[in-house]
Amino acid sequence: MRVLVLHGPNLNLLGSREPEIYGRTSLAAINRLIRAWARRTGTEVAIRQSNSEGELVDWIQHAASRYDVIVINPAAYTHTSVALRDAIAAVAVPAIEVHLSNPAAREPFRRQSFVAEVAVGQISGFGIDSYLLGLEAARAVGRRQAVRPRRPKRGVRPAMARRRRRSIAGARGS
Ligand code: DQA
Repeated sequence: MRVLVLHGPNLNLLGSREPEIYGRTSLAAINRLIRAWARRTGTEVAIRQSNSEGELVDWIQHAASRYDVIVINPAAYTHTSVALRDAIAAVAVPAIEVHLSNPAAREPFRRQSFVAEVAVGQISGFGIDSYLLGLEAARAVGRRQAVRPRRPKRGVRPAMARRRRRSIAGARGS
């Protein structure tokens, strides 16, 4: 399974940025934990951080058919960015939204997430563990995708598809 982890704006300052809210762990240290998790679980992980909305949009677009799941902390863009929301909606890659803090328990403007609407789910308020929980959620989503029954390929004639379904049902004894 291939996971793309995206960190949004100002997360490069983690460690020194409002430590009473975000803790004292630097982004480099979080990324080390992510890579250690990837090694433990045999997952392929790519990690990117940007302060630029457009660059994040580009990476989400680029993820299509290259990654199975996106784990994203959109940071402040969570609350402002229709562009990130639309990019996630546009690509067929499930996204998991993570936050170190719990935005719902903070200022009212943080209660709105444009990303939540198109994400599979959200993990907030567990500090650096939010990322690790987000990665576990990514694994669960990846497993779910792997067992999802495939639709007959486009171009397969309906009669063929019907016969194929019948023989599968027959093999199951139903
Ligand atoms: C954040 C929460 C956002 O509201 C804030 O703008 C951030 C970080 C978090 O991880 O808790 O930059 O996404």
